[in-house]
Amino acid sequence: MTTVTPMRWTGDALELLDQRRLPVDEVWVACRDWRAVAEAIVEMVVRGAPAIGITAAYGVVLAARAAGPGATLADLEPALAGLAATRPTAVNLFWALDRMRARGAVSASLADDLEAEATAIHDEDRRMCSAMGDHGAALLPDAARVLTHCNTGALATGGDGTALAVIRSAWRQGRVARIYADETRPFLQGSRLTAWELQRDGIPTRVITDSMAAHLMQRGEIDAVVVGTDRVAANGDVANKIGTYGVAVLCAHHGLPFYVVGPTSTIDLGTASGADIPIERRPAREVTHVGERRVVPEGVEVENPAFDVTPAALVTAIVTEQGVARPPYATSLAAHVAAAGATRLGPPPDP
Ligand code: MRU
Repeated sequence: MTTVTPMRWTGDALELLDQRRLPVDEVWVACRDWRAVAEAIVEMVVRGAPAIGITAAYGVVLAARAAGPGATLADLEPALAGLAATRPTAVNLFWALDRMRARGAVSASLADDLEAEATAIHDEDRRMCSAMGDHGAALLPDAARVLTHCNTGALATGGDGTALAVIRSAWRQGRVARIYADETRPFLQGSRLTAWELQRDGIPTRVITDSMAAHLMQRGEIDAVVVGTDRVAANGDVANKIGTYGVAVLCAHHGLPFYVVGPTSTIDLGTASGADIPIERRPAREVTHVGERRVVPEGVEVENPAFDVTPAALVTAIVTEQGVARPPYATSLAAHVAAAGATRLGPPPDP
């Protein structure tokens, strides 16, 4: 299990490792109210689908503490709405806020119960990461050379990660030769964050620019691709960091497996297909600048969609904490979500 964590809950503040400043500086930011938490999510101090959900849950706890002893769920509506308005694509955010709302609705001691729920969401994610790691590692060949995209590790979750948990688990089993980490323009999650995490674990890693993957596949230097996801639609279409779709197309062309890893909190059965997934558009500055340096002429227009959708037909398998889902995803994903609900809620009552 990695020692990296993106967040620390102190009881009256949420401390976040500022991921904008990695790998150069390790600086923690203390959020003492829900507005600071919301701003931290928007500004990408913290990012990654499960980590965003966990962070928002703690934000609700801060709102409840600030509302005082007599507060009701209605008093928390501005916080719930404000946190929901931060980033649109990762469904874990809405999943976590729904859980907090449901707990608050039946609560006698609002702030304490919400704190227990946020902590439970955090702990459950840690356990789901381990389970995904074990299920997914079995899919990789021996001496695997694996390409991954974006950052899907401890920085993005409450545990070892999603795709990176698979890689970590396979590494512990001695079955990883090397990881290729896509740089992941424009925010550079791959080169700044994934490389930082894997280097700390001693896992051999080579950073490549996003445009190099095709060349390496053509030369037979990649055995499999493993990525995370921000939202899986009911039909198995997968939203993930911009550039993922291109990698999946490359896999299909080169006959390579394309694996997606995410907990059931990332599966959105209420969204029929990828066409219905909202795609976040981020500020132009992320494209026009690398760090403080301008790399696009002043006045030139840019596009900055933060995510893309990979059609289910290009996805070899989807790994969740429940196991490995295979096509047809409409049935296999629904079974994983049902199994997760049964585990979390316990067995149904006797009729
Ligand atoms: O914009 P980000 O950095 O929040 O995007 C993160 C990703 O796209 C990850 O691949 C995804 O959240 C799944 S891994 C936890």
